[in-house]
Amino acid sequence: MRARTSLAALLAAAGLLLPGAASAQQADGERLFRQRCGTCHSLEPGQNRTGPHLSGVIGRKAGSVEGARYSAALRESDIVWEGGTLDTFLAAPRQMVPGTSMTVGVPNAAQRAAIIGYLEGAVAQ
Ligand code: HEC
Repeated sequence: MRARTSLAALLAAAGLLLPGAASAQQADGERLFRQRCGTCHSLEPGQNRTGPHLSGVIGRKAGSVEGARYSAALRESDIVWEGGTLDTFLAAPRQMVPGTSMTVGVPNAAQRAAIIGYLEGAVAQ
C-alpha cells in the first residue's frame, strides 16, 4: 500500500498524471474565465453583472439578453456568437464593435481559444 501511494505521488510530482490535453485546456479556460471575465459575467441564466450573463452564449444573437445593459452599438450589430465571432470580438472588442462598452480584450490567441472552448463546453452541459 505504502509503496503504491508514494509511486502515485512521484508520478504526480513528475507531471505524469496530468489530465489529457483537452481537459487541461478546459481547466485552463475555466480558470481564465474566472480571472478575466467572471467579475463582469456570470454563467448563470438571469444573472447580469456589469456585462450580460453568458449562459447559452454560443449561437446567441449579440445584445439579446433581457435586462442586460447593452451599448446601442452591440444591440444593433448583427453578430451571432460562435467560435469565430467570439475570437474576433475577444481579441479586440472595440475594433469589431466600435462603441461597445466592453473594453477589455484578450490579446493572447491561446488564451482566447481556451476561454471559448470553456464557454462551448459550459453550454453543452
Ligand atoms: C469590465 C467588465 C467586463 C469584463 C472583464 C469582460 N466583459 Fe464581456 N462584456 C462587458 C459588457 C459591459 C458587455 C456589454 C457590451 C456592450 O453592450 O457593448 C460585454 C459583452 C460581452 C459579450 C457579448 C454578450 C451578448 O449578449 O451579446 C461577450 C460574448 C463577452 N462580453 C464575453 C466576455 C469574455 C469571454 C470575457 C473574458 C475574457 C469578458 N467578456 C470580459 C463587460 C466585461
